[in-house]
Amino acid sequence: MKFSVESRPSSLGSGDLLVLPFLDEKPFSHPAIVAALKKLGQAPLQLLKKEEFKGEAGDSRLFATHGKLPFDYVLFMGLGSAKKANLESLRKAASKSAQAAEKIKAKKVVSLLPLALDKKASAQEAGQAYAEGAVLGLYRFDKYKSKKDKDQGLKELRYVLPDAKAGKAFQSGLKVGEKIAEGVNYARDLVNTPARDKPPEFLGREAKKIRGLRTKVFNHRQLKSIGMGALYGVGMGSPEPPVFVEMHYRPKGRVKKRIAIVGKGITFDSGGLSLKPAKSMETMKDDMSGAATVLAVMGLLPFLKLPVEVFGYIASAENMPDGGAQRPGDVVKAYNGKTIEVLNTDAEGRLALADALSYLTKNRKVDYIIDIATLTGAALVALGDLYTAALGTDADLIQKLKETGEECGEKIWELPLAEEYAEEMKSNVADIQNIGGPYGGTINGALFLKNFVAEDAKWVHLDIAGPSWANKPWAYSPKGGTGIMVRTFLRLFSKF
Ligand code: BES
Ligand code: MN
Ligand code: ZN
Repeated sequence: MKFSVESRPSSLGSGDLLVLPFLDEKPFSHPAIVAALKKLGQAPLQLLKKEEFKGEAGDSRLFATHGKLPFDYVLFMGLGSAKKANLESLRKAASKSAQAAEKIKAKKVVSLLPLALDKKASAQEAGQAYAEGAVLGLYRFDKYKSKKDKDQGLKELRYVLPDAKAGKAFQSGLKVGEKIAEGVNYARDLVNTPARDKPPEFLGREAKKIRGLRTKVFNHRQLKSIGMGALYGVGMGSPEPPVFVEMHYRPKGRVKKRIAIVGKGITFDSGGLSLKPAKSMETMKDDMSGAATVLAVMGLLPFLKLPVEVFGYIASAENMPDGGAQRPGDVVKAYNGKTIEVLNTDAEGRLALADALSYLTKNRKVDYIIDIATLTGAALVALGDLYTAALGTDADLIQKLKETGEECGEKIWELPLAEEYAEEMKSNVADIQNIGGPYGGTINGALFLKNFVAEDAKWVHLDIAGPSWANKPWAYSPKGGTGIMVRTFLRLFSKF
């Protein structure tokens, strides 16, 4: 996609599609738009009125120009009220207009943008939001279709700004937004890829491919010999061996904060011997979404050059019920020496993460630890599929994550880390067992993980079982893997 920017236009130029924003229920007032509307005549605006089009955020109407303008179509694009408009409304508008452009096979789109979001966002941020919305909204996964969806054809998105000074910053925002959205789409690709084609060792190779990081991949022999019995155990029922990955990004200048991010990388979760019902297995190729997010974030750090030092971890295995699989009642020993009775082999994500968290706790010194995992179906029950559940030991970090998530259109809600429930995770034969009581499944999962970070660690666990996967298209996310939290993580890191 070619993005271009022009400031304070004498005319809007020409193209296939002209996008005209609606703010506060009327066309954005700018001389170029007034002129265009005049040429277009009263008919479209009268129709909009008849349809009671209010220009709510995300709502739009398409009209043919019948040669009255040097564009085939105009799209009236709702941005809602100027007061309420924010970066998320820009992303939605950008996505909607890119999708409309695709539908009418436009090659060149001109969009005149109001930047005045009540000074809530800079031109740089607006540019980033537009590029994110457009690139995310056009995503599709057709690698496995014999007939590829036709080349989208959309070649150029030209944004016309009403403010002459804003051009440079907007342009640089576009570049950043495009890169970040491509990173999110990479995470989506990984999640959407069938499990057969992305075994744990494949994720290890993907990590190794990222330039600008120092990366170590522990193969199954190595992870066994260093004592990662919990992750190793999960992989025993599959012919695909487990891997543990450490990636390290160090910025050039001063380091503001040191952060560890840890992703659950179960490439397929059949449940193991505690086998899932068929229906529940249908989307279980997405059980490596946390790992996909970590890979995408780590891949973007060298480009964004954020002033934070980041350790990225992936604990990856395939959870299958082959003859060598671990049995309910088996006891494994994690990297920190704790023994775990595996009462349910379907609670495998916490086993994989236990070793990753122990490893970084023992070997690295960081200010914050964030793990991200499709850990519990209970998170979906509690919060639905839009919200990520956050639980942890640092209220400040949770607050920051919530705020940042909101700005990115990636919602996060806190659940309590209720110590009282840990009682039910005591085992008869080992130090702990991998399942708790019948209620509060998401809390139990987090309480289990807490055993593997230091007492004083600033740690947050994100359960993305819901938002990692879209069962239906939503704004700029089509069905399937969403690449959730890539943008929130990067934005959070840019604030430190
Ligand atoms: N990967 C699943 C959680 C999941 C469920 C993610 C639905 C996305 C959608 C996880 O490994 C799992 O099976 N968790 C069990 C835990 C239970 C056995 C304590 C669950 O949620 O049922
Ligand atoms: Mn499971
Ligand atoms: Zn799982």
